[in-house]
Amino acid sequence: MLHLESLEQLRKTRRQWSQQGSVVAFVPTMGNLHEGHLQLVDAAKKLADKVIVSIYVNPLQFGANEDLDKYPRTLAADMQALTARGADAVFTPDTGLIYPRGLSEQTYVEVPHLSDILCGASRPGHFRGVATIVCKLFNMVQPDHAVFGKKDYQQLMVIRLMAEDLSLPVSIHGIETIRANDGLALSSRNGYLSDHEHKQATSVYRAMQQIAEALQSGRKDFSTLENDAKLLLKANGFTPDYVSIRRQHDLAPAADHDHQLVILVAAYLGKTRLIDNLEVSC
Ligand code: PAF
Repeated sequence: MLHLESLEQLRKTRRQWSQQGSVVAFVPTMGNLHEGHLQLVDAAKKLADKVIVSIYVNPLQFGANEDLDKYPRTLAADMQALTARGADAVFTPDTGLIYPRGLSEQTYVEVPHLSDILCGASRPGHFRGVATIVCKLFNMVQPDHAVFGKKDYQQLMVIRLMAEDLSLPVSIHGIETIRANDGLALSSRNGYLSDHEHKQATSVYRAMQQIAEALQSGRKDFSTLENDAKLLLKANGFTPDYVSIRRQHDLAPAADHDHQLVILVAAYLGKTRLIDNLEVSC
């Protein structure tokens, strides 16, 4: 696997791949890779001849009191895992390369409305940071395909809209969330949890399943279902940020006539903020 650290190395490799006629798929990550990320690499391999993964913990998408400093950085283990999984290249830019004039002087990419609801309401500026870095990385890597996890459901939608609005020549693919046997969605932030908190965290999936079963049985009392799920989370030690039943296609609040829904949850266990979601057809 090639390890590319500079834009020159990346562009040279990309040019060679184009000359060979290779289709390129890209998996942007912040590292600390787990099986969920590695399955994105598997999906990327099915789409393309060459797979490139980026590892960059993007300061622009973290709020002032968030976990930027303690976000796990495990490059050696990540490189080993990517090599074993058959990625062709890993791109590990530093902040000098990504934001040469500093964060406050950076040109931003902002997807309106969708960036301000749900996680965007609780984390102002977060999706602007995501859209900006993903747009920059797309311009650097120039992939034909890009692969993201559906675990970050709102992020995936922000990226799809950004790519469409800016006419970026890349197909965006969303891959199903990978869960542990107990239902907990794999996430780099699970590493912050103690054993006890890990057990409590499985209540997120149970809370979503409780709502999904109720929706499938025909219930439409969305606020009651959301509030009951919050009570279940609180009983398991969580401070819920939101539990929300939304339409899949635009994340607007669900109405009685909607059938393709998604349950979205964000909740704090101690200082750790976990998010998850479950799509429901009803
Ligand atoms: O999902 C992530 O890991 C990040 O938000 C992304 C897409 C790599 C942008 O920094």
